[in-house]
Amino acid sequence: MEKLERVIVVLIFSIGIVMIGIGSSSAIEGVSCFHCHTKIVEEFKSNIHYDKGFTCEECHGGIARSNNTLSTSIMSGDFIGRPTRENITNVCSKCHPKEAEDYKKSIHWEEIQKGHPEAATCTDCHGVHEIRAIKDNKSSTNHQNSPETCAKCHANKELMSAWYYGIKADRMDTYKESFHWKALSNGYSVVATCADCHGNHDNRPHTDPTSSTYPDNLPQTCGKANCHPQARFDPKIAAGLVHDKESLHTGELKFNKTGMSSQMRSYYLGPFDLAYWIALFFKILTTAVIGFFAGMVILDFASRFKLKKRW
Ligand code: HEC
Ligand code: HEC
Ligand code: HEC
Ligand code: HEC
Ligand code: HEC
Ligand code: HEC
Repeated sequence: MEKLERVIVVLIFSIGIVMIGIGSSSAIEGVSCFHCHTKIVEEFKSNIHYDKGFTCEECHGGIARSNNTLSTSIMSGDFIGRPTRENITNVCSKCHPKEAEDYKKSIHWEEIQKGHPEAATCTDCHGVHEIRAIKDNKSSTNHQNSPETCAKCHANKELMSAWYYGIKADRMDTYKESFHWKALSNGYSVVATCADCHGNHDNRPHTDPTSSTYPDNLPQTCGKANCHPQARFDPKIAAGLVHDKESLHTGELKFNKTGMSSQMRSYYLGPFDLAYWIALFFKILTTAVIGFFAGMVILDFASRFKLKKRW
């Protein structure tokens, strides 16, 4: 009798477990966290990690799939809660060791370790619960969108002028003056964004010899395969100040003067180089006007001399 009772209890228990199993088998709704964190779960649905079948527990720990009790015991075990800014890298580096390794060479990481939490960590550039595939055109680090992502901080005067940073906040403005931005905003995507010059993850100041923007490394950075392979860069431009308005203008003039191949010229200046013809027009005009008046002065002088002599 006692035996039968036990069998029945076990049977009912097992049916219960199976039912829970069936209930939770539909991907995200079955995730227990769904019941309380509905907004985040909604965001998570456009996350590449969701597409790849990962759940909350992958980053937060806890017991995501036990749907039987809606108690906070779900957030127990190896549940880490909200990772600190220093810890976010550890969460991501579990699966992205290469990116994390590069990132750890960056000044951003250096600053976070110094206790300046405003510097960029993985989630500032990629998002937290809405991390999209890079090629998704809504991704914050998509080629088209990444300059705006850097500008969130690098165009923020208050942040950039903090005493321990004190760097210029005009990076986006000066980038917008460049050919690269003009082409990018017109939908031409094979042009340099911030990250192409500064690296995706190992961003360093240009005074650091390991930086992609260190003057000696610029020919290599500009000369990347899809960019300007063996371009005949004027060394002054390559070593120049990209974000300096003056140098941008001298750059444009230099491109006109140096014997650039017609292909490169049209790449930089478009098929019809209006600036070139305007410059040429004014050169001719100035020479002609000055020449004309100089001639008049000479004639006038000569005539006075003659008159005097005749007198
Ligand atoms: C019973 C409802 C409930 C469930 C289920 C639940 N949570 Fe929570 N969670 C909460 C509440 C309430 C808080 C506290 C919110 C606060 O402090 O603002 C919280 C806080 C958190 C935090 C932030 C902790 C912090 O340090 O600020 C994280 C991360 C989190 N939950 C993740 C999860 C994950 C992952 C799951 C699934 C494994 C989950 N939660 C399941 C209710 C729930
Ligand atoms: C790819 C890793 C990852 C996944 C997957 C993930 N999170 Fe998070 N989550 C984070 C990180 C990183 C933070 C800290 C963000 C910060 O502090 O800026 C965070 C913060 C949170 C917080 C606290 C801050 C807030 O925004 O309220 C909650 C709650 C949370 N996550 C719930 C969830 C839930 C629920 C899921 C599943 C639907 C989930 N997370 C999936 C990485 C992840
Ligand atoms: C300063 C902004 C920034 C930070 C911080 C950052 N990333 Fe990225 N990440 C990018 C950009 C930009 C790309 C490349 C987009 C492209 O390919 O055009 C990228 C690409 C990626 C990719 C796609 C593969 C690849 O390497 O191109 C992964 C995965 C990735 N990052 C993970 C991480 C992780 C993990 C961290 C933290 C350790 C991190 N990122 C920190 C900006 C950032
Ligand atoms: C459990 C493992 C895991 C964790 C933890 C994880 N990722 Fe991923 N992540 C992946 C996988 C797998 C992909 C898909 C890779 C692919 O499609 O090539 C991916 C894709 C990405 C992509 C898109 C890459 C691309 O090429 O489009 C980015 C960006 C990214 N993860 C950033 C992060 C960030 C930031 C964190 C930390 C908050 C993180 N990941 C945590 C496994 C993980
Ligand atoms: C969350 C804010 C934030 C984001 C997003 C961000 N940065 Fe930064 N960046 C900082 C801070 C803060 C510093 C530290 C300034 C310092 O001490 O030099 C910094 C420093 C730098 C430096 C070195 C500056 C110097 O003179 O030391 C470079 C280069 C740089 N970032 C490039 C980028 C690029 C490229 C992106 C986009 C892919 C980006 N950053 C995105 C906050 C950010
Ligand atoms: C064509 C390549 C190129 C592009 C695109 C570019 N930069 Fe730079 N950036 C440089 C070079 C080279 C320097 C160093 C010399 C200078 O100041 O011009 C620099 C300097 C900087 C600095 C100061 C740190 C230092 O090294 O002195 C920051 C911060 C920065 N850039 C951020 C950005 C941001 C943000 C964007 C996009 C909005 C961007 N850059 C776009 C090449 C580039």
